[in-house]
Amino acid sequence: MASLTPQNLRDRMHSLNKMRGLSTLLFVVALLASACNHDRHTEQATTNGEEIFELCVSCHGPEGHGESMFNAPAIAGLPEWYVKSALQKFKSGLRGTHAADISGMAMRPMAMSLHNDADIETIAAYVSRMPKAAPAATMEGGNAANGKALYAVCAACHGAKGEGNEQLKAPPLSQMSDWYMMSSLEKFKSGARGSNPKDIEGGQMRPNAVALADEQAIKDVVAHIMTLK
Ligand code: HEC
Ligand code: HEC
Repeated sequence: MASLTPQNLRDRMHSLNKMRGLSTLLFVVALLASACNHDRHTEQATTNGEEIFELCVSCHGPEGHGESMFNAPAIAGLPEWYVKSALQKFKSGLRGTHAADISGMAMRPMAMSLHNDADIETIAAYVSRMPKAAPAATMEGGNAANGKALYAVCAACHGAKGEGNEQLKAPPLSQMSDWYMMSSLEKFKSGARGSNPKDIEGGQMRPNAVALADEQAIKDVVAHIMTLK
């Protein structure tokens, strides 16, 4: 896959939109319809994770295994504490508000449509219990051996096997798609993610992405993480 700079992401979205034309429109209509349905349900106090998850399927897929066409990562089996934290960040605007964060801006309204903390807790618990994806590599050109040396720093927070660390608020990486890790690391490096001073965890992560010298270094470390599965 080509490099995932914000500009490329934008170009990709544009060509997607051109290509898909009517189907994109239908998709948006379907999304709005499901959002309206959801609103009706929440008036009766939503307590059902399955019901809330209907709102997520259109982008994250029926099993929550992600959909690269929408830049939507796999979320199934992410720890409850991380899903909760991510949704709260999108909702409050600590994530998904930077002008260069196109995919974050696609997610933000979805988090905003979750009306209260109870809904966020319900969907976080539900998503965390869904079986994890085991995404195959989609990228070429990463040198996993170089990446292994680079990963030594990352392991301090994300764990030797990419299993994550709740105390340090570092999510697991071992079930993540390569394209999503590329995109996230590029965003942390450019400041599209993690540069809001109130985003504590993003601020802890950011210098590590900045320390990755270039796109090749990012590809290398991602290639290594793909071997940890
Ligand atoms: C319109 C498409 C869309 C819908 C619908 C959607 N999402 Fe997302 N979601 C995204 C995109 C795109 C991202 C990636 C944002 C990024 O790159 O930072 C994302 C990211 C996330 C993340 C962060 C994952 C991570 O590893 O940091 C979580 C958690 C999440 N979504 C949960 C949900 C839930 C729960 C729902 C349903 C209530 C939902 N999403 C609905 C598009 C969507
Ligand atoms: C000081 C601890 C720390 C170190 C070292 C660290 N990270 Fe992180 N990383 C975090 C935290 C905390 C987050 C969660 C940020 C958030 O909540 O938005 C994160 C998030 C990420 C994400 C995004 C995950 C997602 O689901 O969106 C990726 C990818 C990532 N780190 C990769 C790396 C790589 C690769 C390295 C080494 C080059 C590294 N990290 C080093 C703490 C760290």
